[in-house]
Amino acid sequence: MMSIRYIEESRTFKIDTNHATYMISVVDEEGFVGEVYYGPRVSDTDLNYLLRTKENPFVPSKNERDRLSFYDSFSWEYPTAGIGDYRNSAFEIRTEGGYGACLLVFEDYEIISGKRPLTGLPATFGTEDAEAATLEITCREPDLGFHVVLSYSIFEDSDAIVKSVRVVNDGRETIYLEKVLSAVLNFENITPMDVITLHGSWARERHIYRREIPYGRTSTSSVRGESGHQDHPFMAVLSRDADEDHGDVYGMSFVYSGNFIAQTERNQFDTIRAQMGINPEGFCWRLKPGEAFEAPEVVIVYSSEGIGGMSRTFHDVYRNHLIRGEYKDKKRPILINNWEATYFNFNTEKLLDIARVAAGCGIEMLVMDDGWFGTRSSDNCALGDWVVNEEKLPGGLKYLVDEVNKLGLKFGIWFEPEMISPDSDLYRAHPDWAIQIPYRKPGLSRNQLVLDISRKEVRDYVYESVSRVLRSANIEYVKWDMNRQLADMGSPALEPDCQGELFHRYVLGLYELQERLITEFPHLLLENCSGGGARFDPGMLYYSPQIWCSDDTDAVERLMIQQGTALIYPLSTMGAHVSVCPNHSVGRSTPFETRGYVALSGTFGYELDITKLSDEELRQIKEQTAMYHKYNDLIRRGDYYLIASYLENKEYNCTSVVAKDQSEALVTFVRVMGRPNYHSQRIKLKGLDPKKLYRMEGTEQVLSGGALMYAGINIEGLWGDFNGRLLHLVEEK
Ligand code: DGJ
Repeated sequence: MMSIRYIEESRTFKIDTNHATYMISVVDEEGFVGEVYYGPRVSDTDLNYLLRTKENPFVPSKNERDRLSFYDSFSWEYPTAGIGDYRNSAFEIRTEGGYGACLLVFEDYEIISGKRPLTGLPATFGTEDAEAATLEITCREPDLGFHVVLSYSIFEDSDAIVKSVRVVNDGRETIYLEKVLSAVLNFENITPMDVITLHGSWARERHIYRREIPYGRTSTSSVRGESGHQDHPFMAVLSRDADEDHGDVYGMSFVYSGNFIAQTERNQFDTIRAQMGINPEGFCWRLKPGEAFEAPEVVIVYSSEGIGGMSRTFHDVYRNHLIRGEYKDKKRPILINNWEATYFNFNTEKLLDIARVAAGCGIEMLVMDDGWFGTRSSDNCALGDWVVNEEKLPGGLKYLVDEVNKLGLKFGIWFEPEMISPDSDLYRAHPDWAIQIPYRKPGLSRNQLVLDISRKEVRDYVYESVSRVLRSANIEYVKWDMNRQLADMGSPALEPDCQGELFHRYVLGLYELQERLITEFPHLLLENCSGGGARFDPGMLYYSPQIWCSDDTDAVERLMIQQGTALIYPLSTMGAHVSVCPNHSVGRSTPFETRGYVALSGTFGYELDITKLSDEELRQIKEQTAMYHKYNDLIRRGDYYLIASYLENKEYNCTSVVAKDQSEALVTFVRVMGRPNYHSQRIKLKGLDPKKLYRMEGTEQVLSGGALMYAGINIEGLWGDFNGRLLHLVEEK
């Protein structure tokens, strides 16, 4: 049972999830708020000795002469800058007079059932099935008068704790927020720890990167205006001996899609502070008296069952408490997208040819990608001109969509709503709508600029032009793309001392646009995308139940990209397609079958010119679409296990999904590199019920879950590179 309590005697807040406890205490007469404990659930109500307030340097009331030594060693729940805690701060302000120091001390608290939404921001929520409870601790700046609310929410069915921060200026003077991070964790166990972050680039997103936390400060971050291909708003701090299945792991995942920072600092006392929030670089928010600022939330997961335990908790909390809408728990239509099939070179006839063959193979939706609007025949022009190009699509969009529908397929369409090409009617009419600084020519990327969607009139244009298209035909899916990152940050709509708000206001504008879209079109399946997977983050998942993982559709590259993505996100969210070989990103040729197995671990679809495939390949597509229908409920809803990682062993990869009631499992195995004189590969399954009996589908073999997990099975007949297997185990009753 989850609970949140305040224990008067120890001045302790105790947050209990099903398996974890988080304790915060208020200490000394001045009311300093410290993190006491976070780990496996305990029954104690007073662990204040952990705060070392009775050890030298003592609290300030007992030792005023060494106040700064206390500040510099205390486990602050929310550390502020400038007062003498020389470690990395989570909160930094500047007054109108230009001063920076501030202190936050306890004032009040509230424990409520449920969870408040965050204004204009994506946020996790309680449901009828699993209620939420929230603790709000109010801390005040004694000299400047404003206050900060530290918020903690938990859910009945989860071990996650969600932290967020609200700054309320009820003081008399304007303050400038220079840093408002959302969550801090303190690790006082005095032993070295590791950190895992995700790194990559375009076509190589979210590769897992683990190392020991060094002395000093290290961070992973983005100043690109989006979460980015390169770094990811996620960090796990873990014991050095923790592995996939064992040991203490603390994951932090930021529900935000803009600039972020995730940071660790190992200090002189060998303690570690880990924190996460909006990147302070380029950020400054003016807060006048009477105004409030809400920082996005961080979902924190403690797992005593290694990295895999953490991942499964994130998957459940995002599936149950973040993703919304009709497709939250629904099988998605199998789509075929024309991007890799045609790039910009298509017309109605070509799309209908693709749709015709696709319909015969069990594919359920045609998605028309980039190039259908304005004068767009390459990536050099027309972004912003969301009007159908009737030369390419004679008869218009409605004709095409109706014809596609007649073939029994749904229809989906691509947009890149946040962008503007200098060569566009929109730019010719409104050159000032692009983000830019008055004294400098803005730099181009993919020959495009970014629209200033912090401005209402720009958002209204964007919304109207996109929704007009959606209203014009039976469009059931939108791929919302973003193909460049932000620079030359300037907006004439903002006052000079508010230019530092633009990055965040841009993200708020994006969220508002997507909220409007899914409100007007509640049946629409929205897939976010950003030059592949540059904005695959929990913030976007609040609006779209799936996100395009990467422009790299090679089966081997996808093993690594999808493994990194699955560290946090459920398989149901990962846009994954089968494409042609040699692969367009790496030139590699892998068996069609293996490409299908790898894509089945995601939303599943095709990205190829199906009219050019052989009969044998078309036969395989029919098989794959049937497999999708057979296994997708399990893949979408089950528990994910990483059994072997190609990233680590450089030979083979194995993952599985096990039904919540352990009645079936689907194992995906890929031997990436063939190995001479090696007859079979032993793998040990995970997550099964040791007492249940399971039949390996297509064979007479029945084994106990115990045998499958502790003794393992042999995968045989693996000759050649890139060979895959899909094994389905079903409980034998
Ligand atoms: C980047 C996306 O990731 C691709 O799938 C495709 O939609 C292109 N943009 C179109 O410009």
